[in-house]
Amino acid sequence: MAIEFAEKTRRIPVYPAAAGYSLGTGVAMLASNEATFGPLEPVVEAARRAVIGANRYPDPSYAELREALAQRHGLSAARVALGAGSCDLLLAAGEALLEPGAELVYAWPSFSMYPHLAAASGARAIAVPLSADGVHDLEAMASEITVATRLVLVCNPNNPTGTALPLGEIEAFLKAVPDHVCVILDEAYVEFSLTVGDPLASLELLEANPNLVLLRTFSKVYGLAGLRVGYALCGSDSFRVAVDQVRQPFYLTAAAQAAAAEALRHQDAVEQRVAATVAAREELAAALRERGHWVAASDANFLWVRVSDSGEDGPVVAALQEHGVLVRGGSALGGPGFLRITVGTADESARLLAALAALA
Ligand SMILES: Cc1ncc(COP(=O)(O)O)c(C=O)c1O
Repeated sequence: MAIEFAEKTRRIPVYPAAAGYSLGTGVAMLASNEATFGPLEPVVEAARRAVIGANRYPDPSYAELREALAQRHGLSAARVALGAGSCDLLLAAGEALLEPGAELVYAWPSFSMYPHLAAASGARAIAVPLSADGVHDLEAMASEITVATRLVLVCNPNNPTGTALPLGEIEAFLKAVPDHVCVILDEAYVEFSLTVGDPLASLELLEANPNLVLLRTFSKVYGLAGLRVGYALCGSDSFRVAVDQVRQPFYLTAAAQAAAAEALRHQDAVEQRVAATVAAREELAAALRERGHWVAASDANFLWVRVSDSGEDGPVVAALQEHGVLVRGGSALGGPGFLRITVGTADESARLLAALAALA
C-alpha cells in the first residue's frame, strides 16, 4: 500500500523552480533574480568563523542579527522577525494567520509562493489581476477585503513584472484596510526601486499601521541567496511572536546569522552594487525595446518582456537554453507569452541579446 498523505498535498502547487543547476558553469543564470555578485570577503569570513563552532546549536534568540537589523531600521528588536529566507516567513505567516473559512488577497501575476499559502491552509485565495501595464490595482484589492480577510500581500516591486507603486499609494491603501487584517508588503527588491527611492522610507508606514509587516531578504542586494536569510520589520511584535510559535526554534544556521549580520556592516558596497545593477537594467531594457519587445517599467533586478502575442513563451525559453542562457518563462509565473529575465553581468546581457537575435 502506498503512503497516504494529507489532502493538502494534492492542493499545494509545485513551486516553479528554475532549471539549469545541472548544466554546470558557463551558463548565464538569468532565471532566479539572484545577485550576479558573490558575498563580500568579510561576510564569507564571518560565516567561516561561525562554522568552527558548528557543534553547538545556533542562538535561538538570533540576538546579534535581530539587534543589528533593529538598529539599522530604528525599531525595537521585538519587532524584527527572521526566517530561512523570506519564503520561510511567508509560509509561517500563512500558518499563523490562515485556516479554512479565512481569506487572503493578493495581486496576480505575483510571487509564486502566494498561492501556496491558501492551498496549505485551506483558506480562500482572492487573486486580483494586475492592471494592463503590470501594476497592482490597489483599489480592486481593497474592494475584495471582507470580514473573513486575514492577510493581504502586496509585492512592491512586484515579481514577476518588476513594477512598483509609490509609497503614497500604499499609504492610502493601508487606510482602507481594517486593523484586524495583516498586510505584508513584500519588499524583496525594494533597494533596486527608483519609484520608491529610499529603501528605508516604508518604515514610516509602520508607525501608523500596527497591522503592517515589511518583508525583506538578504537573497538579493546582499548576495546571500544560498544562505537563506529573510527578515520582517513589523508594526507590532505580535506578528513576530506568532511566526516564531509555528516554527522550529532553530530555523537559521549560525553561519547564516553571522554572514547576514556582517553584510549589514557594508552598506556602501551594497549601494554601489545596487547602482551598477540599476544601470545594467536600464541598458538591457533599452536594448530589448530597441529590438521591438514590450518591456514593463522595472524597479527590480529583472525585466518582464513580451516575446509572443500568442502566449507561447516555452519555445523561446528552450531555444535560449540551447544558447546557454537560462531565463524564466511567463507561463509558469501566470503571464504566458512573457519572459522574466534577471539582470546579469554585461557579458550575460550580451549573450542574451545575441541569442535572441539568433532566434529571430
Ligand atoms: C517577491 C519575492 N518575495 C520573496 C522572495 C523570497 O526570497 P528568499 O526566500 O530568498 O528570501 C522572492 C524570491 O525570489 C521574491 O521574488
